[in-house]
Formats: sequence, C-alpha cells, structure tokens
Amino acid sequence: MRRTVTNPDRNITFSQHHVSLQERWQQNGHASGILWFTGLSGSGKTTLALNLERRLFDRGWHACVLDGDNVRHGLSSDLGFSQHDREENIRRIGEVAKLFALSGVIVITAFISPYRSDRDRVRNIAPDMFREVHIDASLEVCERRDPKGLYVKARQGLIADFTGISAPYETPHKPELRVPTQELGIADCLDLLETYAVESFGREG
Ligand code: ADX
Repeated sequence: MRRTVTNPDRNITFSQHHVSLQERWQQNGHASGILWFTGLSGSGKTTLALNLERRLFDRGWHACVLDGDNVRHGLSSDLGFSQHDREENIRRIGEVAKLFALSGVIVITAFISPYRSDRDRVRNIAPDMFREVHIDASLEVCERRDPKGLYVKARQGLIADFTGISAPYETPHKPELRVPTQELGIADCLDLLETYAVESFGREG
C-alpha cells in the first residue's frame, strides 16, 4: 500500500487501519469512548471507576480503567505535581485513552486533572469520544474522608502543590455528567454511571 508522508519535516507517515472502528463496535456489541472522571483527591474517582469497570465487564463489555496513582507508577513515573508535570501527565493519558478507545474499549480514566485547559485539550484530540464526568464532592468532605491521609500531611506542609490546599482545582463548567458523591451512596452513583454508559455506548454507533 502506498503511504503518504503526512509530516515531511519529521519523516513520519500515518497508516490507516484495515479494521474500521465501526467493525470493532459491531464485533464488540457496543460503541467505545472515554469516560473522563475528574475531581478532588478523595472524591471517589478510583472507587467508582473500578466498580463501573466491573459492572460493564459483567455485561460482557470491553472496559478498562486508567488510574492516576497506578499510571504514576509506570508511564508517568517521571512526573511530579507541578502545573507543567500535571499537564504532561494528562496529555499522555489523553493520548493513551484515545488509542484504547480507537481499539474498541470503553476507557474510564480516574485522574484529578485539575486544569480545564488540560481536560479541554483531551476533548479536542478525541471530540466524538470524550465525555467529562465530574466526580463531585466538596473539599471539606474530601478532607474529612482523607482515605490516604494525604490532606493531613498537606495541611502540615509535608506535601507541596496539593490539589485543593496549595494547588487549584478548576471545577468543570459543563461536564456531560455530574456524580454528587457527597449526596448519593456508592450504589446510586454506580447506577447513574452505568445508565449513562449504556446510553452513551449501548448502540454500535
Ligand atoms: S493529576 O493532577 O496529574 O491528574 P493524578 O490523578 O495523576 O493527578 O494523581 C493524583 C494522586 O496522586 C492523588 O490521588 C494522590 O494519591 C497522589 N498525590 C501525591 N501528591 C499529590 C499532590 N501534590 N496533589 C494531588 N495528589 C497528589
């Protein structure tokens, strides 16, 4: 097959796949995309992402979680929590999530992703596939939960640039879905998410 050099300055080309996304969706029995969870540390992103993955898997669907703490053990192990490093972290995850989604998987990402500009950049690289999901709990509630004991440390000045304490969190203006984890229990939050996932991906495009 003849390939066109799509970026002559860098001598790189873009090869078209021989399997279309539509064909993947038909074979899987559902569409794919990115459920981009954003919210404060302790808001419930990881818990809900892992449980939603379980529910979708039990339906026979292809779903996969990309989680902040896990990804920072590998792909992003060289990055810290400065604004610049978070931007690079989200850029990488956005690109990886897009690749997963193009392979037919429903990707559930669980990253604080505190900056609107970073989230919007991911939306722009995968506009048809990206769904922003605000896992919403106030700083007060997250700090009270403090599941990893990090807010206590941040208040003691032991963790720099801690989101909500010494670094910003920019609340989504118009997320596709808001999950109020301080008002609903886990099962109700999951029902909301599962219903949304079925509405979004339940048809084959
Ligand atoms: S993001 O801002 O780049 O999206 P990410 O979701 O990958 O952050 O990582 C957040 C997790 O890292 C938190 O859940 C927490 O366990 C841990 N963490 C360590 N240091 C910080 C910090 N300064 N701010 C926020 N989270 C931190």
